[in-house]
Amino acid sequence: MSVTVAPRRFTPTPRITNPMISSPNKMKLGVFGLNTDCGCAITTAPERLMADDWAGNLEIAKIADRAGFEALIPIGRWRGFGGDANFNGVCYETYTWAAGVAAVTDQIAVVTTSHVPTVHPLVAAKQAATVDHISGGRFGLNIICGWFGPEMRMFRGQMMEHDERYDYADEWLEIVQKAWNQHGYWDYDGKFFKVQQGFSEPKPLNRPVLVNAGGSPRGMRYCAEHCDVAFLIVNQSDEATSRKQVRSYNELAQREFNRTLQTWCYSYVVQRDTRKEAEDYLDYYVNQMGDDEGADNIAKELGIQTGIFTPEQAEAFKFHFKAGWAGIPLVGTVGDIIDQFRKYSDWGLDGICLSWLDYHTGIKDFVEGVMPEMEAAGLRVPFAEREQQVPAQAAE
Ligand SMILES: Cc1cc2nc3c(=O)[nH]c(=O)nc-3n(C[C@H](O)[C@H](O)[C@H](O)COP(=O)(O)O)c2cc1C
Repeated sequence: MSVTVAPRRFTPTPRITNPMISSPNKMKLGVFGLNTDCGCAITTAPERLMADDWAGNLEIAKIADRAGFEALIPIGRWRGFGGDANFNGVCYETYTWAAGVAAVTDQIAVVTTSHVPTVHPLVAAKQAATVDHISGGRFGLNIICGWFGPEMRMFRGQMMEHDERYDYADEWLEIVQKAWNQHGYWDYDGKFFKVQQGFSEPKPLNRPVLVNAGGSPRGMRYCAEHCDVAFLIVNQSDEATSRKQVRSYNELAQREFNRTLQTWCYSYVVQRDTRKEAEDYLDYYVNQMGDDEGADNIAKELGIQTGIFTPEQAEAFKFHFKAGWAGIPLVGTVGDIIDQFRKYSDWGLDGICLSWLDYHTGIKDFVEGVMPEMEAAGLRVPFAEREQQVPAQAAE
């Protein structure tokens, strides 16, 4: 049967460009993990984030949006990691979360973190296009292959072998991109997917920003080939290693695929009036109240499944895991935090997604205390100036 598609009455246009791509800031900012219990801190400290608080999620999202942050990135999680906190056990689903957040924000990129084995690419593409329309063109897709065995086995009863997960993600993304770009009907015949007379409308307003956090050689290659943003877990063993790792994604993308990408990572923020107060608070929620069992479960799973950590490295990272999912520290006074931002920018990082133990007070203190100093340090331009510099653009 031959099928034709009626012409559209109008072509919708994006309201703005996606700030993850268009922002001129030398150090872009995001908020990471606000959709899930504990956020990024593996601790039982009572002021940790309770994620099934939609009003609280929106409050944090709106503060970040109005302050000029570039991105909101949720954690994709389907079950917790055990231990006293059952870290991330309560978690909002990320496409529907993004739709809700997109509706009440104005300029910030709203990202979905999507485990590819849990959603058919045609469903993902259409959900993505819908959130992109709700946001006026600010959608991003963080592509995750799945590494946490008990979680992935909830869906398929088994897990694919490591590199095969990326082969699957290759096909998954190809179908998503056909759905986003190709009008009319199309077929797809791959190893994992077969699509007959595929069709998907509407198209996204802007091409969604693609993010991936692969750390293995195969993961890095996937990211370099397809994505706009590499989202890193930085190896903090020494500065030279961190610097080399941060730069390696873009070098690979340029060398192998003749393309460039941004490099972002994530951080735990402890901002206090004195360095001692900040260090004491970190000690309180990490060493005294930390959930060691939950942290061990994650480190073991990541190390065994992906090979990115040896057991020794995982142990060394345990403190960072409990402090903020092994993010890089932004700890101390405002001045200390600015110095740390300068150092991370010098490593080659384009953006950092922030997390706090208490997101609600943390983001307010950060916006009031740190952001003006980032502008003074030349790491960011004042938000009002940026808005004038970046006019709305048509879809790519
Ligand atoms: C910054 C960052 C964010 C991540 N977010 C998630 C997430 O939300 N959900 C998840 O299951 N995995 C997440 N991961 C895990 C990665 O997607 C990836 O599966 C893991 O790093 C292993 O990739 P690899 O096998 O290529 O090394 C994240 C990793 C990093 C570094």
